[in-house]
Order: sequence, then structure tokens, then C-alpha cells
Amino acid sequence: NAAPASLLTIFGATGDLAQRMLLPSLLALEGEGLLPPALRILGTARSALDADGFRALVAEAIARHVPATERNDATLATLLQRLHYQPASLDDADSLRALCDTITGLRDGDVVYHLSTAPRWYAPICEALGAHGLGGAGTRVMLEKPLGHDLASAIAINDGVARVFDEERVFRVDHYLGKEGVQNLLALRFGNALFEPLWNARHIEQVQITVAETVGVEGRGDYYDASGALRDMLQNHLLQLLCLVAIEPPSQFEPTAVRNEKIKVLRSLRAIGREQVATETVIGQYGAGAVGGVAVPGYRDELQRPSDTETFVALRAHIDNWRWKGVPFYLRTGKRLPQRCTEIYLQFRSVPHSIFDHGGAPLQPNALLIRLQPEERIELRMMHKTPGLDRAGLQLSQVALDLDTQEQFAHRRRLAYERLYLDAIEGNGTLFVRRDETEAAWQWVDAIHHGWRANGMVPKPYPAGTWGPGSAVTLTDRHGHAWRE
Ligand code: BG6
Repeated sequence: NAAPASLLTIFGATGDLAQRMLLPSLLALEGEGLLPPALRILGTARSALDADGFRALVAEAIARHVPATERNDATLATLLQRLHYQPASLDDADSLRALCDTITGLRDGDVVYHLSTAPRWYAPICEALGAHGLGGAGTRVMLEKPLGHDLASAIAINDGVARVFDEERVFRVDHYLGKEGVQNLLALRFGNALFEPLWNARHIEQVQITVAETVGVEGRGDYYDASGALRDMLQNHLLQLLCLVAIEPPSQFEPTAVRNEKIKVLRSLRAIGREQVATETVIGQYGAGAVGGVAVPGYRDELQRPSDTETFVALRAHIDNWRWKGVPFYLRTGKRLPQRCTEIYLQFRSVPHSIFDHGGAPLQPNALLIRLQPEERIELRMMHKTPGLDRAGLQLSQVALDLDTQEQFAHRRRLAYERLYLDAIEGNGTLFVRRDETEAAWQWVDAIHHGWRANGMVPKPYPAGTWGPGSAVTLTDRHGHAWRE
């Protein structure tokens, strides 16, 4: 069991992620008294700031990104007192040495390093830490995505990190795992006896996982254009969600047991290669349109150059094991879609025989909808008698048992990094991604990419503010299913 960290070192501490998510999360933890009292936080980046300059930058970022109702001066002052700063150029050995000296001076026990820089620096940073005796027992490293852009680059990064940090001390971040609703998936499945007997191919007809965004590429065009929706979202967030929907019950809620089950799912994914991509995947790229009534430019206009990068991907996946054989998992994600929503939809099989005339209309199958964003909600849909004395026979309508988490618990919506930082500081890796998971996910995604290239598949245009290209509908239609809208 790890000791709580005495020092958290954030590489890329002046960057966008740090300002929008990381520092606000630390402030929230501070406000709840959840940071170890003696924890120090060291920021490092290229900017030539001193500690006061960094504190001013953090205070400003917090004012910009944390709602006034969720911050107070006393908490901010306590957080600022923990902050230190050391500028470093990662390609300069002298400045790395100075950084390592600062770390040595500040640590008083376990250290967490959070690498939030371009991934090409991960291996060199780890090597420098190792060379200065800062990578041994009592140290942990958190790695931000993207962890490479294909299997080969992911292996290269993982190998570089592994030369200094054993796998138990590597915490790969997928911020979706830090979201409350995502953890609730495990609670729903394994904290209730009700669902498990039905959670398989005998009773489930199809599963849909949607991560829809209204935003475009938000000034990250260079990164995004080299990545695309498949690598940016599906390789990590959607496959992690798929894993949590599909895993066998782990024997315990602890890192090895949970991750051993996830890797089995990833390894059971049926390959989608050059023979299958044309029928099993759809890619799109948004053109000009309107989202929420606001006119927005097309992807290429935002980028100001031509591009064949997909901003939308939908596919039909299969998990070839006893539990899921034959059940399609439809996954889709895209930018500039009509609404922001992340949800998982499980449709059960229809009743084997209907005893109701129901005006000749088929009974609608039961469904479980797990909404993760923007609100957390669980809906169980079922047929119900429509009240009345209908003489033509019983009439039925579909109704929903609806649980609104916000209403039920009246809780503050947390940032994913609150959970993830707390776990990394305490050394609990359950909600982080293990090396074999990332690599299995890359292997599966690489085959799709190669398939696209081999078939010369390019994204079909869709107007911003619509649910992707029309052919996304054929993906489900062909099998008698329909996307949930
Ligand atoms: C990131 C992607 O991992 O997740 C972004 O790189 C995306 O492109 C973001 O916008 C979505 O995260 P969230 O938490 O807003 O759903």
C-alpha cells in the first residue's frame, strides 16, 4: 500500500488542461479538506515564472474557470501556499537537472508526477527523473492522453516509461473513468442483483454508446487533424465505456481485478479490418451549419486547409465471448453534433409473444438508458397500461422509471480530475488504464485505420448540427435497429 504523496509535480502546469481542469480540481479537493495537509504542488513548464508569478497565473485561471459559487478566498489562499514553480525546457539537460534538484528539495516522501505535455516528452522526462534517482520506490507517474497515435508509438512510449517506472506505478489517465456517472455504471451492474441475470446476449438485443459533442476543434486543430475522432475519442473513452458495460463481475473493486476483466473484453473485440470497414464503420466530417441556432464554420474552414480527418465515427462492434456473442455494440462519437450528450442505451429483446392486440402495433422492447452527460440519469423503459376503459382491448404505452441523480442526491457536479488526483495521490490505480488495455485498444483501432486507408475511405460531409452523415443510419437500419435520438 502506497503512502499519500508528499509532492505532486505537474509537467505542463501553465497549459490549457492545467488551467481548465487540473488546478480547479485541486482547489475543489482543497475546499473539502481532502488534500494531505503536507502536500506540496510543484508546477513546471517552459514559461520563465517564479513561484509568485505561477501563483498569480493559477489565481487568474481559477477566477476564469471556477464558478464564483464554488470558490472562496480562504481555500484559494491555502492552495496557493502549497504551490511552487520551476521553469524547465525538456530538451535542455541543465534545466532538467535544476528541476530534479527542486523536486529532491521539496519531496518529503512519495511523489506523483503528472505528465501533461506533448507525449513525445514522456519517455525523456521519465529517463531524466530516473537518472536523478527520482524514479524509484515511492514515486508514481500519471500520463495524459493521447498515449501515442497507434500501437507502435504507444509501445515506444510505454517502453520508455517502463525503463523507470514499474507498471504498478504508472497511472494512465482516461478522464472518463473519473466521471461520477461512469463509476456508477459499476455500481449499477454490481451493486444490484436485478440486472446481472439479464445482462447478456439472451436478453439484450443491442447496445448503443454515444458520445456527442457540440464543440468543434477548439483551437486544437493541429493535434486533432493528426488524430481524428477514432483516435481522439473512440480508442480511449468509448472503449472504456464499452468495457465497463461488458465486463464480467470482478471479484473485488481493486486495480488488478477490475483491469483483468477489462482486458478480456478488449481482447474479445472482433477485428474490423479492410474487409469489414466499408459495412461496419461510417466516417464523417462536418461542414458549415448551425449548432443550437448559432452558425458555425465547417471543419476545413476552421482549420484553414484541406483535410480528410474524420470528425465523426460510428461503428458496429462485436464482442466474441459467451456473454455477448451476436449482440451489436453500436458506438458513435462526433464533433458539432446537435447536442452534447454521453449515454449508454441497452435495448432488451422483445416479448416472445404478445397477448395484446394493441391496435396492431408491436410492443416496444424494454430499454435501459444510462445518461452520463450533461446530466446523470437512469431510465428504465417499460410497457404500461394506458389508463382507461378502452373497449377495443387493452392499450399500452411505453413509460420510464426515471432516476435523476442530481435530484436524488443534490450533489455538486465534480470534475473528473478530483477523483483521479485523489486516487493517484493515494496510490489507487483502479480508475487508471493499464498498459495492456491501451495497447489492445490501439491494436483494434489500428486495423480500422489500415482498413480505411486500404479502401481509400474518406469521411462523408455532414452539416454541423446534424447527427453525422446519412450513412450512419444505414449502419443500424441494415440490422433492424435504430439510433436513439
Ligand atoms: C478529450 C478529447 O479527451 O475529451 C476532446 O481530446 C474532447 O476532443 C474531450 O472534447 C471530451 O471530454 P468531456 O469530458 O467534455 O466529455
